[in-house]
Amino acid sequence: MSPRTPAPATPAPRPAAPTTGRPTGTNRPTTDTAPAARSTGTTRATATRPTGPDRTATSPADDYARFCAGIRRTCGIDLEQYKRAQMERRIRTFAERRGEPDLGRYLKRLQDDATELDAFLDRITINVSQLWRNPEQWDVIAKRILPELAPTGTVRAWSAGCSYGAEAYTLASLMARHAELHGPFRAEVRGTDIDARMVERAREGRFSAADARDAPNAELRRHFVPETGGGWRASPELRRTTRFVVGDLLRGTAPREGFDLVLCRNTVIYFNEDVRDALHARLAAALRPGGFLVIGATERVAQPAALGLRSVQPFTYQKTEA
Ligand SMILES: C[S@@+](CC[C@H](N)C(=O)[O-])C[C@H]1O[C@@H](n2cnc3c(N)ncnc32)[C@H](O)[C@@H]1O
Repeated sequence: MSPRTPAPATPAPRPAAPTTGRPTGTNRPTTDTAPAARSTGTTRATATRPTGPDRTATSPADDYARFCAGIRRTCGIDLEQYKRAQMERRIRTFAERRGEPDLGRYLKRLQDDATELDAFLDRITINVSQLWRNPEQWDVIAKRILPELAPTGTVRAWSAGCSYGAEAYTLASLMARHAELHGPFRAEVRGTDIDARMVERAREGRFSAADARDAPNAELRRHFVPETGGGWRASPELRRTTRFVVGDLLRGTAPREGFDLVLCRNTVIYFNEDVRDALHARLAAALRPGGFLVIGATERVAQPAALGLRSVQPFTYQKTEA
């Protein structure tokens, strides 16, 4: 078993939220690596706060670029880091549906109307998730990764782009099961997302029947409590294992905390390739040597060796060096 003395039980006490040394606004929800992460309604502390140079104002004919600059000033989300064709189409279609095809006027409306801003951000930060999403990846985590990590006595994991927490709770379930079968270890799962409302939902740990459609029945019953209406709530043990904070993956320094496992699935698909590659470098930097990075089933790390990663399974990398 463990070369270290295993803690008596999972989960581990919660660590303090990481800080970046950058200023935080009043009323802002707990932030991780995001000084200006998505905020909504009453928590919109970043509105009107400049977040950096306006990189798009030099192309006056480009109403989309001006719109992006305005959104960045308004709520800190940098839409220019996302794939333009896809994001622009989504935004223009949404603005038209809301009755305002002119992006300049739509920006003004977003700046004046917190409810509309919420609806807009809901549309652009695609939050789709589910418990045990891509079951084959959870098989790799259960059979290949946890058996290697758990004997060290502590597994600290990060669900980067966690949405409403399905990925983090699935991982916490696997960890709890592994501890039941093979002995206790300290388990911590941190989830971060740019979307404050998703983070609030994640803290609740509630899932619909549809969210649970691919979850193995026995695991669901073991670690989740049925709710009226067919939904499920994560058990108190899982909720103690997990911790959720708002964080923008594209801002601030990568947490250099030596995570044992980082999951970043179905989040970089919206980013430009160079942004994606830079993010993968930050995720690799957040791992301890020997730690694992799991990415989405349709994704790839462009140059794993350059980041000190080696591919050990499809969509699974292990850090080889510091
Ligand atoms: C499709 S969900 C993926 C959820 C989960 N990882 C999964 O695979 O089921 C993508 C998430 O990435 C988040 N996201 C998008 N841009 C982000 C950023 N810059 N920083 C942090 N999270 C971001 C979105 O808010 C959304 O919740």
